[in-house]
Amino acid sequence: MENLISLVNRLQRACTALGDHGEETALPTLWDALPSIAVVGGQSSGKSSVLESIVGKDFLPRGSGIVTRRPLVLQLHRIEEGREYAEFGHLPRKRFTDFAAVRKEIADETDRETGRSKQISTVPIYLSIYSPNVVNLTLIDLPGLTKVAVEGQPDSIVMEIENMVRSYIEKPNCIILAISPANQDLATSDAIKISREVDPKGERTFGVLTKIDLMDKGTDAVDILEGKAYKLQFPWIGVVNRSQQDINKNVDMIAARRREREYFAQTPEYKHLAPRMGSEHLGKVLSKHLEAVIKSRIPGLQSLINKTIIELESELSRLGKPIATDAGGKLYMIMEICRIFDGIFKEHLDGVRPGGDKI
Ligand code: GDP
Ligand code: NA
Ligand code: MG
Repeated sequence: MENLISLVNRLQRACTALGDHGEETALPTLWDALPSIAVVGGQSSGKSSVLESIVGKDFLPRGSGIVTRRPLVLQLHRIEEGREYAEFGHLPRKRFTDFAAVRKEIADETDRETGRSKQISTVPIYLSIYSPNVVNLTLIDLPGLTKVAVEGQPDSIVMEIENMVRSYIEKPNCIILAISPANQDLATSDAIKISREVDPKGERTFGVLTKIDLMDKGTDAVDILEGKAYKLQFPWIGVVNRSQQDINKNVDMIAARRREREYFAQTPEYKHLAPRMGSEHLGKVLSKHLEAVIKSRIPGLQSLINKTIIELESELSRLGKPIATDAGGKLYMIMEICRIFDGIFKEHLDGVRPGGDKI
C-alpha cells in the first residue's frame, strides 16, 4: 500500500498544479487541511542547517542576514534505490542531480519573484527531493523572524515576516518545528514566542535546540532538553549542526552527522539523553508523527475531497463540455485526481482496525 505521506505529498502537488482555478473551489481549503511541518525561528537560529541535516544534503542558500525570503515547501520522497535528484514545481520534469544547482535555482527563483532586493514574498517555491537517504516528510522553510529591518528593507518587513510565519503556523494542521539556539536565553526565543501564541499548550510544537556546542563553558542545556525549562507535549530534541567554519571547510553531511552522534554520546551531561538527540532522530520522529496525524485525519480529508468533487462537478456543468486544454479540462483532471485519492483513502480506512493497527 502506498505510503500515506507520499500520498498526501501528491495531493498537495495536485492542489498546487491548479493555479488560477484553485480559488474558485474548495481546493485551497483542502490544501490547508493537509498536515505539514513548518520551521520557525529567529534569523540565524539554525533553521536552514536543521533542514539540511534532516535531508542529509547541502542544498539551501545560506549566509548571514535574511537569505530565505520566500516560503520553501520541501517534499522529501524516499525511493528504494537509484540516484538522488530534485525537482521544482516551477520547472516540472527538469531533474536536478547537482545540489549546488538546486541551491542556485532557489536563489534565482526567489529573485524572480522579489527582484534582487531584500524584499520578501509569500509565494512559495515547491521543491521535491527523491532520495534513498530521506524519510517521507513535507517541510516548509520560512523566512527568519527579525527585530529590525536592514538597509534596503522597509520598516514594515518585521511585521510582514511575522504575519507570513503566523499565516502558516496558525493552521491547526500545521506541525511547528520551533528552532531556538542554545547560546541565547530561551526566554528571548522568537520561535517559542510565536509558537506559544498559536499553540499555547504545545500540542503541535516540536522544540529543537541548536548550537548546543556553542554554549558558555560551565552551562548546559539539560534542563531544557529534559523539558523542565519549557514544557511541550513532545520531548525537546537537541542538535549540533555544522558551524560556519565547518561549512567554509566543506565538512560533509555524513561526517557532520557522525560528529553530532559522538557529541551527544560522549558529553557526560548529555549521555543519558543521547538516543533521543540529533538530526537523524529528529527526522524519524517527525516522519512518524506526520504519518500518525495523517492517519487520524483521513476521515476529515475524505469528506473534504468529496465536497471538492461536488463543487468541481457543478463548476464543470457551468462551463459546459470540457476540452483538454481549457479551464474545464483542468478542472476535470483535478476532479479525477480527487476521485483517485478518495479511493486510496478508503482503502487505507478499510485497512485500519479500530485500534489503529494495520490488518
Ligand atoms: P537560519 O538563518 O536560521 O537558517 O540559520 P543557518 O542555518 O543559516 O545558521 C546560521 C549560522 O549558524 C551558520 O553559520 C551555521 O553554520 C551556524 N550554526 C547553525 N547551527 C549550529 C550549531 O548547532 N552549531 C554551530 N557551531 N553552529 C551552528
Ligand atoms: Na541566515
Ligand atoms: Mg535560513
